[in-house]
Amino acid sequence: MEKRVLKDANDRVDGIYKVTGKAKYFAEYELPGLTYGVLVTSTITKGKITSLDTKAAEKAPGVVSVISHLNKPSAPAYEQEGGSPFKIFYTDKIFFNGQPIAIVVANTFERATYAASLVKVTYAKEDFNTDFEKAVTDVKAKKLQGQPEYKRGVENAYKTAEVKIEAKYHLPIETHNPMELHGIIADWRPNNQVTVYAKTQGVKATQGTIANVFKIPIENIQVNSEFVGGGFGMALRTWPLEIATVMASKHIAKPVKLVITRMQMFTMVGNRPAAVQTIGLGANKDGTLTGITHRAFGETSAYENFTEGVVNMAKFMYQCDNVNTQYTVVPVDLGVPIWMRGPGEATGAFALESAIDEMAHALDMDPLEFRIKNDPEKDQQRNKPFSDKNIKEAYRVGAQKIGWNERKNKPGSLIDGQWKYGFGVSIGVFNANRGRASVKGILKADGTLVLQSATSDIGPGTGTGMTLIASKLLGIPGDKIKFELGDSSLPPAPSQGGSATLSTVGSAVNDVCVSLKSTIAELAANSNMDATSNFVDVLKKNNLPQIEVTKQSQAGKEREDYSMYSFSIHFVKVKVHSLTGVVKVDKIVSVGDSGSIVSPKTARSQMVGGAVGGVGMALHEESIIDHRYGRYINNNFADYHVPVNADIPEIEVHFINKPDPYINPMGAKGMGEIALIGFSAAVANAVFNATGKRIRTLPITPDKVL
Ligand code: MOS
Repeated sequence: MEKRVLKDANDRVDGIYKVTGKAKYFAEYELPGLTYGVLVTSTITKGKITSLDTKAAEKAPGVVSVISHLNKPSAPAYEQEGGSPFKIFYTDKIFFNGQPIAIVVANTFERATYAASLVKVTYAKEDFNTDFEKAVTDVKAKKLQGQPEYKRGVENAYKTAEVKIEAKYHLPIETHNPMELHGIIADWRPNNQVTVYAKTQGVKATQGTIANVFKIPIENIQVNSEFVGGGFGMALRTWPLEIATVMASKHIAKPVKLVITRMQMFTMVGNRPAAVQTIGLGANKDGTLTGITHRAFGETSAYENFTEGVVNMAKFMYQCDNVNTQYTVVPVDLGVPIWMRGPGEATGAFALESAIDEMAHALDMDPLEFRIKNDPEKDQQRNKPFSDKNIKEAYRVGAQKIGWNERKNKPGSLIDGQWKYGFGVSIGVFNANRGRASVKGILKADGTLVLQSATSDIGPGTGTGMTLIASKLLGIPGDKIKFELGDSSLPPAPSQGGSATLSTVGSAVNDVCVSLKSTIAELAANSNMDATSNFVDVLKKNNLPQIEVTKQSQAGKEREDYSMYSFSIHFVKVKVHSLTGVVKVDKIVSVGDSGSIVSPKTARSQMVGGAVGGVGMALHEESIIDHRYGRYINNNFADYHVPVNADIPEIEVHFINKPDPYINPMGAKGMGEIALIGFSAAVANAVFNATGKRIRTLPITPDKVL
C-alpha cells in the first residue's frame, strides 16, 4: 500500500483509503484459525435464567464451543464484589431485553448463527418497566441519583418576573447507528498474550479494561484500531459483548471474531438517553433575563447509572443572576445509555434554546436580539473570564448568510402557496477540553517525518489535523509526514471523545516539532552550518539516519484562570407544508467559534456532519419500544429514520477562526460536539416561526405539526 500521505492542505490523509475500500476496519482482519462468534440474547426483559440448554447447538456442524454463565473462563474482576451487577457470564440475571447471555463459536459465521438459534433458554420473569416517561411520572417518592443541585441567586426567580414562561420538553431515546457495526476480534494466546482488533474510540482504554477484567499485565495486551467507521460516543467503553468475545477466545484458545447485528446495535452498545426537562425563564419587559430554572430527568438503566451534562449550559450561557438547575436520572429496564454526539448538552440545548425562543416571542423581541442582549461578559458560574468568545460576531455572520432580515417576528407570516417559511436560531456550546497525551516524532534523513500516538480517528480526521500542525511548524510538505495512530503500543493518548483530540494530541505534536526544530538548529550550529539549513542536510552532515523525540503535553494553569468553551450558532430556514405537516429544512448556516481552524476541510466536515445529525435529531430520530415486551420496534435502518440526501439542503459553514490565546499552542478548540449541540432547537424554533406551533417533543413529525 502507498503511504498515507497528504498531497494538499485541503485534503484528507485517509480520504483515498476510505473511498476506495483500502481502509481496513477491525472486522476485515484475517487471523490463522479465526473462528466466528454469534450472541444468544435474552428474550425477556427482567428476571433470571433458570435453564440454558446448549446440547443441540454444541452438536451442530462446525461449532467449537458455546460459552455462557455455566462454563465461563476465569475473569478475576468479575469474581470480586462490587462494580456493575451486569458482569457478562458471571450472572444469571436479566437486566434488559436483548442482553447477551451466551456466545456460540463456530468455524463459520453462518454455522454460528444457525447454532445460536438452537440454544434453549428458560427464564423466571419479573415485572419490568421500559417506559421512561412513565418512570418519570412515577418517580416522585423515590430517592434519585444525579448531580448536585446548582443555585445562583434566588431559586425559581422566574416565577416572580415581569414576563415568564414555563415549558416541558421531551426527548426520546436515540441510537447512534454508525455505519460500522460494533464488535471485536480477540486472540488470546498461551502465556496470556492477547491481541485484539477493536472498534474503539480509545485503544488504551480498551487495553486497560481487558487488563482489569482478566487481571493480566497491560503489556500483554495489544489493541489495534486503525480505522473506525464512526463512533459518536458508542465506542467510548468496552462493552460486555467485547469481554464475552475475549472470554470465548481464552476458553477455546483460538481467535474469535464477533460482529453484532444492526438489531443488536439498538440494545447492547448504548443510546442517547431519553429526557424530560422543564425550563422556567423570567425577564424584565425590556428583555433582560432575570431567572433561569432548568430541571431535567435523564434515562438510566436499572443496573448501572449513566449521567451527563444536560443542565450545564443554563449555568453560564446567558447573563443572569438567578439560576438554579437540577438533574436526576431515572432507571428503566433497558441497556445502559452512553454518550452520543454532543452528549448531555445536545439534550439540554434543545430545551434551553427552545425556551429562549419562547421567551423572545413572549417579549415580542427578535430572538437574535434577545440573545445578544443577554450575552454574558464573563462566565458567572465559575466567576472567570472566557478565554475567547466571539458569539456576537458569529450571530452577525450567520444572520447575514441565512438572510435573517427576511424573517418576520410574527409566526406564520411567510407563505408561498402551500408552504409556510420560517427562520430559527440557536446556540451550541461545549467545554473546550484538553487532556494529556504523548507523541513520538522521528525525523529522518530521507526527508520524512513519522509521528506516533495511541490516539484514535473515528472519522473527524485526526491524522490530517496532526499532519497539518507538523507541516506548518517544520515546513515539511504534508506528503512527507505520516501520523500513526490506533495502536496501543504507541505513546499513550486519551480516548477520542469530548472534542478534545486536536487540542490534546495536537499540543504534543506541537511540542515534538518545536523540539525537533531546536535539535536540528543545534546540530547545524555544532557543524558550522547555516541556521536555516534543511534538516536533511543537517542530518546527513552529522551522519544521523534520524533523530527521535517523545513529548508529553497537558493543559497549563491558564485553565484555572479562564473559562474555555467552543461555541456554535446554528441558523435554519424551514418550510412546512400546510396540508401534510411535512417539515423540510430549506437552508442551514452553521457558524463555528472554536478558535483557530487547523484543518479547513475536516473542520467543515465536522460542522456538516453535525448539522445532518441535528436534522436527524430534530425531525427523524426516535428509538421506539413496545413497552408490553420491553423490545425495540424500529431496530433497523428501514424503520429508524435518519436524514438522507433528499432531507438535507445546502449547508453553509463559517468559522470565526480566531486563535484562543490560552488553550493550546495552536489556539484551536474542539468542534465535534458543537456541530450538533443546539441544532434541533434551531429547527423547532424555525417551525414555530413558520407555523406558530411550538413543538416540545422530538422528533418533529408531521402528526405533531398538524
Ligand atoms: Mo463523543 S459523544 O465524546 O464520541
